[in-house]
Amino acid sequence: MILGIETSCDETAAAVLDADRRVLANVVASQSVHELYDGVVPEIASREHVRKLVPVVTHALQEAGASLGDVEGIAVTAGPGLVGSLLVGLITAKSLAYARGLPFIGVNHLEGHVLSPFLEDPTLQPPVVVLAASGGHTLLVHVRAHDDLVVLGRTRDDAAGEAFDKVSVMLGLGYPGGAPLEKLAEQGNASAFDLPRSWLEPGTLDFSFSGVKTAVRVLLMREPELAKPPRSADVAASFQAAVIEVLVEKTLRAARECGVSSVSIVGGVAANGALRRAMERSCAENRLRLVIPRLAYCGDNAAMIAFAGGLRLARGERSDLTLDADANLPLGGVANRAPRRKKRP
Ligand code: KG4
Ligand code: ZN
Repeated sequence: MILGIETSCDETAAAVLDADRRVLANVVASQSVHELYDGVVPEIASREHVRKLVPVVTHALQEAGASLGDVEGIAVTAGPGLVGSLLVGLITAKSLAYARGLPFIGVNHLEGHVLSPFLEDPTLQPPVVVLAASGGHTLLVHVRAHDDLVVLGRTRDDAAGEAFDKVSVMLGLGYPGGAPLEKLAEQGNASAFDLPRSWLEPGTLDFSFSGVKTAVRVLLMREPELAKPPRSADVAASFQAAVIEVLVEKTLRAARECGVSSVSIVGGVAANGALRRAMERSCAENRLRLVIPRLAYCGDNAAMIAFAGGLRLARGERSDLTLDADANLPLGGVANRAPRRKKRP
């Protein structure tokens, strides 16, 4: 059995997978305290992880009908994320591995997200193009093999989920904003406001979401009534449509360019029903197979970390007990955010 631990942001999570990497338990304790501050407060997040991690690991083992003695390997998120939060998980995993003499492996959180479609659907085989869209990151990745991930595009500023969270706060819906904004958007008209789609320069698969966020801010400054119901529903729907159009279009373009026949969307933003439906429509039109992990594997969770770590352990990889947390741990050898480009004169 593999024990997975994930504490990179504001979810304290542990999971247990069997030797065939099937999920026996997947426990997530979310930290609702951050709602008070309209965003994650790093120091509070670390303290909450300290309080919750051991009970969450115990709960996961109980749910799997297992004890520590059954665990054969430990996988833990080593980055990217909030460094204090990462350290809580990493130190716990290292302590368990040292005390029990178990192999342990540090896992890139984004690799966990990107490989989650293979956890969802064991029949899925690379190559696959995966869009990973969460509160911290937005990446397009060509999974050529489980151990060969090529980053095709990254955000140059805000992550897609971050833009949802910021617009949500502007509309008085609080943090985290994706789910309430989606709900409000259901009552609105997505064509009410023509918000910018930032395609960036021709050919690039990078993203930028700060422009659409700022466009919403300017709109609300000019007409404060738009921030309140019933008009706020039109703003939410128009904003959501602008983000989704770019996400779907660039994912489909990546699939064409890589010549893959399977596509996946993962990460917290993949919980968005409108995005799922738009992606389903486009994939059907283009005869692409679409795999979207269940909600429990889209948001931050430890099952995806145990899965990605389990694959690495099976390949004979091990991390050293000196492994440190890395807040900016890159995926596929490139920084997780692309540099901003200078505008042409
Ligand atoms: O993957 P995740 O749980 O954590 C990170 O690694 O960031 O993603 C959380 C992000 C938040 O920004 C949240 O607002 C967004 O996912 N999200 C959504 C929805 N549910 C969660 N965004 C759009 N629509 C949703 N229904
Ligand atoms: Zn995540």
